[in-house]
Amino acid sequence: MSTDIELSANVIAERAPGFKPAVGMVLGSGLGPFAETIQDPIAISYADLPGFPKPGVAGHAGQLVLGAVGGTAVAVMQGREHFYETGKADAMKTPVRTLHDIGCETLVVTNAAGSTVEAAGPGSVMMITDHIAFTGQSPLFGEEGNDRFVDLSQAYDPAHQTALRDIAKANEVSMAEGTYMWFCGPHFETPAEIRMSQIMGASAVGMSTVPEVILARHVGMRVAALSIITNLAAGMSDVKLSHEQTMTMAAKAANDVQVLLTGFLENYGNG
Ligand code: HPA
Repeated sequence: MSTDIELSANVIAERAPGFKPAVGMVLGSGLGPFAETIQDPIAISYADLPGFPKPGVAGHAGQLVLGAVGGTAVAVMQGREHFYETGKADAMKTPVRTLHDIGCETLVVTNAAGSTVEAAGPGSVMMITDHIAFTGQSPLFGEEGNDRFVDLSQAYDPAHQTALRDIAKANEVSMAEGTYMWFCGPHFETPAEIRMSQIMGASAVGMSTVPEVILARHVGMRVAALSIITNLAAGMSDVKLSHEQTMTMAAKAANDVQVLLTGFLENYGNG
């Protein structure tokens, strides 16, 4: 019996014969427009890809777009499944493994996040350099074999981090850096939880990304990750936290992330 990974890879091979992406991407809230910059796009609805997310959170198109950006072949996921949708941390297992299966060596993950650092307010961009899986969950629960004991000491690829720093500098994009702390959602955090996250060394908090990163590292993909800061985290400002605010602010900051992603893909393979 074929696995969902094989079935999805077969659908992709039928729709885009011979296409071999180098970079897989997961676009978070507000970054949908990046997909419009893909050249010669072939879009495949998640509904046609076994094991891919069901349409869920508003702001996610729910499709895989194949094509090229900056001369690099990419497979771009417009929309992800979150842990909070099912309480299962392995929701992105089939998509990430399918991207790997069709050739992606790198996974670029983006998200919307709250900032725990006063100076990095709404509209800022943060490159994730490390994470804290505060949910205590792993997408690898139930896996077998010694390779499930994944080394995450350099989960966010050092060379990709350097590339993104160089691109930010060259394009005069201000890019913060820091540790992303994964909370379960879908509720936002409490002010006490945010004070805790600050003490623990987090610069941003959010409800996604970490499962995909662990899954990607498990299959040996290199990872780069960017957060769009949509708000100061709970207790840090008087603005009421809401998904609507996340969407509005993410769209506003999306341009800087788009510049970074495009630059990254233009330079991909040069180091
Ligand atoms: N917390 C968790 N997830 C988020 C936030 C936040 O403050 N903002 C956007 N996504």
